[in-house]
Amino acid sequence: GSASRYDFVIVGGGTSGLVVANRLSEMEGFTVAVIEAGDSVLNNANVSAVTGYGQAFGTEIDWAYETEDQTYAGGSKQIIRAGKAIGGTSTINGMTHTRAQKVQIDAWEHVGNEGWNWNNLFTYYKKSEEFQVPTSEQVARGADYYIAYHGEHGPLKVGWPREMTNSSVLPQLDETFQQLGLPYNRDCNGGSMVGLTAHPNTVDSEANLRHDAARAYYWPYQHRPNLKIISNTSANKIIWESDSSNEAVAVGVEVTGVNGVETIYASKEVILSAGSLRSPMLLELSGIGNPNILRQFDIPVQVNISTVGENLQDQTNNGFSYEGNDIWLGSPTFSALPSADDIFGENVSTIASDVNSSLAEYAKRVSEHSNGAVQEGNVLAAFQLQHDQIFKSQVPYAEIVFLPIGNSFSSEYWPLLPFSRGSVHINSTDGSQPPSINPNYFMFGQDLNAHADVARYIRNAFSTPPLRTIVGEELAPGQKHVPENASDSIWEGWVKSKYRSNFHPVGTASMLPRDKGGVVDAELKVYGTKNVRVVDASVLPFQLCGHLTSTLYAVAERASDLIKKRYIF
Ligand code: FDA
Repeated sequence: GSASRYDFVIVGGGTSGLVVANRLSEMEGFTVAVIEAGDSVLNNANVSAVTGYGQAFGTEIDWAYETEDQTYAGGSKQIIRAGKAIGGTSTINGMTHTRAQKVQIDAWEHVGNEGWNWNNLFTYYKKSEEFQVPTSEQVARGADYYIAYHGEHGPLKVGWPREMTNSSVLPQLDETFQQLGLPYNRDCNGGSMVGLTAHPNTVDSEANLRHDAARAYYWPYQHRPNLKIISNTSANKIIWESDSSNEAVAVGVEVTGVNGVETIYASKEVILSAGSLRSPMLLELSGIGNPNILRQFDIPVQVNISTVGENLQDQTNNGFSYEGNDIWLGSPTFSALPSADDIFGENVSTIASDVNSSLAEYAKRVSEHSNGAVQEGNVLAAFQLQHDQIFKSQVPYAEIVFLPIGNSFSSEYWPLLPFSRGSVHINSTDGSQPPSINPNYFMFGQDLNAHADVARYIRNAFSTPPLRTIVGEELAPGQKHVPENASDSIWEGWVKSKYRSNFHPVGTASMLPRDKGGVVDAELKVYGTKNVRVVDASVLPFQLCGHLTSTLYAVAERASDLIKKRYIF
């Protein structure tokens, strides 16, 4: 019936999907449906509480994807968290709002995606944002900004938690890091991220609530007559026009919901926003992917794109903890973002050339791992670009988060640009089965070395006053497990036994020219299709130094404008 026909059908009402739904439904003559596997979490306290990070983990709103055994990382599986809710992963994430280093967004255009550069995206970073100017109390506790970097009229509230950590902490961290040569960065959201900073979060500062994609982009607009969310409903695959000759033409999406299996028809376009672990799987279930994989499941090939699901890039996270010599109240938002120069000092050029001399071998192994689906030359080019970002452009090498809470002072960190590349592929033809996810954590020596090097830098910071004076004993890793001057292999053993995913998977349906391994073009349209796009973390071709949501909101804003341009004149 007419109830199940819309102009645009968006799969996934998450971080990116709700932006697209909001912006497309601004076109009054067009109808928009969002298919979302999860439900409303508007009244879920595990979501809304500003201090509730982690409370939603393992509950029904966490997909909690399990990876394959991680051969290079000690053998065990990892859990990758992702939100199953209206609002997607933005409802369970850490709320950190940091963008990227300018050169990383400019790289998208350099590799052939016309129009995707920092200056253009900056407009959309700001368009998505409603910056909440901090109060004098928040300023006293470290909130700092350049107003020119921020948008004031967008849907997403960005600011600092109402209760920020004691004002003594930031000056103590600053004095410590000044001695290590790391400058203070007033506002890391202008494209220069290196330094110590008190970053903003996606919070409604006044109401003291998490601001996620649903609170920002959906709930205030839920009464639009042309916008419909179909929740508790899972997309299985795209349905194609039967006589698609040149290009594959989508006519709708097969879903399983409260009425069983049915088709939601799309007159104009199907947009996949199911996240980087799910959108490539939907492409494969729909016949777009590597024929060698599709054949195993008897799925007829609509479009041969061997790189669907490849190029998976995630980071790995680990932590320190110390006894506190003080009591800290409130929510901390302190990060140190040192560059390779900061970490390696006078050894940086030796490290840079060591890494450089490994790239050809790394690229060969990535290609072999994909059974040739990914071309060695393409990976090598991407690795060289990444090497130059790290060692020439001096983008941040790691993020180090400081968490003084109560009477303990802990720290989480992750090297920002690992070289390991993995994949996500279907395991069955049943869309309700999770995909096979293999990030290949620590596939390469450099990724493990980076962990040990950053860990040493952190321990050094905690041994430098005044930071040294406000912490007591190191509880993790602890001198017993990793003594002072421990060898690389001791550090690396600790890393492998304690690391986790940093939950930033990207790249599995990369926006790149087709001959460079792309799955979508610069309008985020899937190659070989007339009317299917991907708009979510899958399309980011390279990992970023910022947390992902700010960039995903901006990408989805820009994608929405590119789509609208085709329908309104
Ligand atoms: P997202 O996951 O938001 O949306 C996908 C949606 O599709 C989900 O709602 C899902 O239920 C739905 N879906 C999937 N398959 C479907 C199907 N077959 N049918 C129907 N619906 C389907 N970032 C940041 O900026 N700051 C931070 O502090 C953090 N911290 C952090 C912590 C944790 C624990 C995690 C897991 C992640 C973060 N991140 C983060 C990362 C960030 O939150 C994440 O990258 C984005 O929210 C991903 O947005 P997407 O739009 O790609 O997918």
